[in-house]
Amino acid sequence: MGRLDGKVAIVTGAARGHAETVAIFFAKEGAAVSICDVIPVNQLDNSVGAEIRAAGGKVICFQTDVSKEDQVHKMVRETIKRFGTVHILANVVGIAGPTKDIWDMSLAEWKQTLDVNLDSAFLCSKTVLPEMIKNKYGKIINFSSGTGKQPLTHRAPYATSKMAIIGFTRTLAADVGRYNINVNAICPGGHQERSLELARGRAQYMNKPLDDEAFRKQFQADQNDPKRILAGRWSADEGYLEKGSGPEDAAKLAVFLASDDASSITGQDINTGGGVMW
Ligand SMILES: NC(=O)c1ccc[n+]([C@@H]2O[C@H](COP(=O)([O-])OP(=O)(O)OC[C@H]3O[C@@H](n4cnc5c(N)ncnc54)[C@H](O)[C@@H]3O)[C@@H](O)[C@H]2O)c1
Repeated sequence: MGRLDGKVAIVTGAARGHAETVAIFFAKEGAAVSICDVIPVNQLDNSVGAEIRAAGGKVICFQTDVSKEDQVHKMVRETIKRFGTVHILANVVGIAGPTKDIWDMSLAEWKQTLDVNLDSAFLCSKTVLPEMIKNKYGKIINFSSGTGKQPLTHRAPYATSKMAIIGFTRTLAADVGRYNINVNAICPGGHQERSLELARGRAQYMNKPLDDEAFRKQFQADQNDPKRILAGRWSADEGYLEKGSGPEDAAKLAVFLASDDASSITGQDINTGGGVMW
């Protein structure tokens, strides 16, 4: 018996990364999953969709830009039509946005990051809530980040969106608690590839070429450098468990928060960074 048997879940941005893992874990636990991404629907269906079906799960795929209200409406409406209702919404989608100082940033770049990372959570939550309120049952899981709790230089729109997700989570939890709806946020740690991406972005912005291999070596060395640790932990990867963390860690927490085992937990922002204490 799965922990999400009989439940219907929507997962956003599910073609890869954390959302893909969340969708697969939800399906393994018995949920029927509705997954969406901006990529063409046949690509999503032939990859993540096929994997879920091959494991015996139920899935429908959508090409949805979750920052667009009409597209979100269509995806939610179709999900309810085909699966009967919706119990769980995982707002996982997120983009890194520009890597530069804000005085070099256009309003369009700022807004695009906020649209995808924050407005999408508003739009998807707003659209599923009438059904959840009717059911007097619902679980909303928003993806923030360690960057939701501490600054990240050169990524102001990303950090702002992730901080706002925590505020949104707490406020929404307060608004819908009386309908037996739980709203929580997950704050994953970054992993080496993301740190490398960020370093590359900064290097490009500052016109200083980055040697990827040297960066990787330095990154590995820094993990264990006592001076660095004494000076202050600098990267989202540096948890006290010293084993890093990845999408599986966040997905396991998402399953728990989506299950009835977490029915008394709401308005929380929980780290999965391998022992970080943001
Ligand atoms: N990867 C990390 O290290 C890390 C760390 C902390 C928090 N997070 C958070 O976890 C979440 C997932 O991150 P990830 O790195 O696994 O993602 P990812 O970059 O691997 O995947 C993001 C997916 O979202 C899709 N997408 C982008 N814009 C979209 C839109 N407008 N509508 C629908 N889909 C869209 C992309 O096509 C892609 O498939 C994000 O909210 C991110 O902020 C990630």
